[in-house]
Amino acid sequence: MTEPDRPDGPGEALIRVNGLTKHYTVRARNLRSLATRRSIVHAVDDISFELFPGTCIALVGESGSGKSTVGRVLTYLDRPTSGEVLLRGKAPNLKKRSEVRNYRSQVQLILQDPYASLNPVHTVAYHLERPLRIHDMVKSKSEARATIIRLLEEVHLTPAAQVIDKLPHELSGGQRQRVAIARAVAVQPSVLVADEPVSMLDVSVRLSILNLLNELVTKSRLALLYITHDIASARYFAERLLVMYAGEILESGPSEEVTQSPAHPYTQLLISAAPDPDASARGTRRKMRAPGENPSLIAPPSGCRFHPRCPHAMDICAKSRPPRFQINDSHWTSCWLFGDTPQTQPGAAAELPAPQKKVTKTTGSTRDEQ
Ligand SMILES: Nc1ncnc2c1ncn2[C@@H]1O[C@H](COP(=O)(O)OP(=O)(O)O)[C@@H](O)[C@H]1O
Ligand SMILES: [Mg+2]
Repeated sequence: MTEPDRPDGPGEALIRVNGLTKHYTVRARNLRSLATRRSIVHAVDDISFELFPGTCIALVGESGSGKSTVGRVLTYLDRPTSGEVLLRGKAPNLKKRSEVRNYRSQVQLILQDPYASLNPVHTVAYHLERPLRIHDMVKSKSEARATIIRLLEEVHLTPAAQVIDKLPHELSGGQRQRVAIARAVAVQPSVLVADEPVSMLDVSVRLSILNLLNELVTKSRLALLYITHDIASARYFAERLLVMYAGEILESGPSEEVTQSPAHPYTQLLISAAPDPDASARGTRRKMRAPGENPSLIAPPSGCRFHPRCPHAMDICAKSRPPRFQINDSHWTSCWLFGDTPQTQPGAAAELPAPQKKVTKTTGSTRDEQ
């Protein structure tokens, strides 16, 4: 099991994810023989990290890397196959509905699509009153209305009295996402998991929604897991990045450091693929070649899952999953290129053969840059 990702976080961790694994069983029928074949999708494999109050951590990776699965398991909408998710050191007893309900009120999920997450036939007031009633947070109709007005003001949907009785189709995409955020914070959670919260919105409103989330994190000391495929927004928005590829976390560190000096070749690839307006204006945009595609999670590659696409792959990369190598106290990567730096898991690579090919360590640029 991987060691927890321990940045020098402010205080006790709110959420501790230990060796989390989620596999899905899928059944496919062969149309000729009509035989059914069972396959296992390795959506998330043995990941560990922590979330702290008043802090935003971004989980970044391409589509299909397992990010949403992490979000669903963190909110116990899906159960982990193995490993654990602890809130203030305790996992809910999944057999007790009240414990699961209490956990879910503390760990709220905000989804990508504000169009789908609100019911078109119900007003804003209905959407916000429901969680308040379910969690017994208001006693009367008038108290509910006053609380809803306060929530709408908190997410800057003003004048609140004009918004409260509107139907979702009367609001813009950004306003709908603000309602979804108000609904998530209505029950005073400790943790928000925001799964691509701005990717379906107009570019012009994305920043204001991210700023709103940031404001809530600071004001209410929430822990936020910002799930995104967009490393540029993650850098702007989060203190720390967790870089995910094919169900595993390959690198983690302070956002600025990971984006300025990415250690893992996959992180370098993500950064090189991200639009950089400054570089294109200067005509100095560098792009790294990315041979291959995302691997199948039914039969993921052996060893390092990125090795079939990695421009620096060595023999060992196909044989053994790299452990965490510490680049410094708060930045680590799972990559054999760093095989001579200290490991987070002592002994994990003790029996492994030495790398066959000597490769020069790189951080910023790579030999495939054009
Ligand atoms: N309920 C499910 N049943 C089977 N496979 C699933 C299910 N949910 C997700 N997956 C698979 O798990 C992998 C990771 O998916 P997901 O977590 O949605 O990735 P991301 O959010 O990074 O795009 C994908 O291969 C996806 O097809
Ligand atoms: Mg997703």
